[in-house]
Amino acid sequence: MYFIPISCHSSPLLWVILALGMKWVEEALSCPPECSCAKWQVNCRGKKLRTFPTTIPLASKKLILAQNNLPRLPLVTMSYLNELVHLDCSHNIITMDLEFSFPGLVKLTSLNLSYNKLTHITSFTFSQLSELLLLNLSGNPLMVKIMEQAFEKNSHLRYIDVNNCGLSYLSAETFQKLDRLRILKIKDNPWNCDCKFLAFSGWLIHTDIKFPDFEDTTCTKPEKMKGLSLRKAKFELHYLCLVHLRPQDFIYICLVTFCIFLGGTLVAWLVGFCTVMYYHPRLRPEHTRNRLYSKNKGLSRLPANRQTCQRTTTWLSLTAGFYSRLSNGANQWELLGAPA
Ligand SMILES: *[C@@H]1O[C@H](CO)[C@@H](O)[C@H](O)[C@H]1NC(C)=O
Ligand SMILES: *[C@@H]1O[C@H](CO)[C@@H](O)[C@H](O)[C@H]1NC(C)=O
Repeated sequence: MYFIPISCHSSPLLWVILALGMKWVEEALSCPPECSCAKWQVNCRGKKLRTFPTTIPLASKKLILAQNNLPRLPLVTMSYLNELVHLDCSHNIITMDLEFSFPGLVKLTSLNLSYNKLTHITSFTFSQLSELLLLNLSGNPLMVKIMEQAFEKNSHLRYIDVNNCGLSYLSAETFQKLDRLRILKIKDNPWNCDCKFLAFSGWLIHTDIKFPDFEDTTCTKPEKMKGLSLRKAKFELHYLCLVHLRPQDFIYICLVTFCIFLGGTLVAWLVGFCTVMYYHPRLRPEHTRNRLYSKNKGLSRLPANRQTCQRTTTWLSLTAGFYSRLSNGANQWELLGAPA
């Protein structure tokens, strides 16, 4: 009895809410006025847009926003577009300075962010895009860094395009876990081919991944590597960074060797000299010689400690003699080997 009047009474409000809801849904599902829409596809190419269109149909699978003036991608609006498979934002002025991710775009397989103003890629940037196959980042000259873990969550990636960016280094680890990666475009970057680049250049040559225009991909820095293709740079770096010794190093090594040699010779000579001085019967002081002769006739009768001492000294002098002969040999060899 009661609810009928109440429902009748409140029905205008209900209708307003319903109408608003309908309008919102309709807006959400209707094509943005600047763009053209076909089945599941919204095309806003080259419409001088400065802001992201707010009324993109939620079921859209393909969204083209290329050649506009978009400075950023709005997180919230984008997070509703969970049917999106293909997103083209190329030729805009997108920066994504914040730790950006693409929440909700769980079905996205192709993302084109080429020709924008991206500066770096972190492990968060694409962390939500687990289905991504193709990523186009080419033509972002301000992009100087791609973090090692940047594609950690994008294990399906098959194509990556970073042609024409500002990269001077990349780490092989960035791509090593991408088992499905087939094509990686890295041309026209200011590659800095110093020793830090060696590991990456080695990986470039041994991996199965294809690098289109690899022969034309060249180093920019340092000066003496400028213009060298990355393939040639690898061999050059291998020589420069792994086996190369500077002239100072050779001098240092020679000096150390000579010191060891001199020290050894000196010690050998000293030990030999002392041994001879101590045991030579005629050079011995008179009283010790007599005592030695009268008490102990021969080595076997020397006291135990004396015997040990003698044996040690004999051994020492033998070693020393061997060493000095060796060094003399080395000396002669050096003399023979020395250029006339
Ligand atoms: C963006 O990249 C995709 C694939 O990488 C390509 O199909 C598309 O044509 C590109 N957009 C423009 C405007 O070149
Ligand atoms: C990336 O996009 C550019 C145009 O913005 C296009 O020329 C290039 O072919 C695309 N790269 C790939 C791998 O599709």
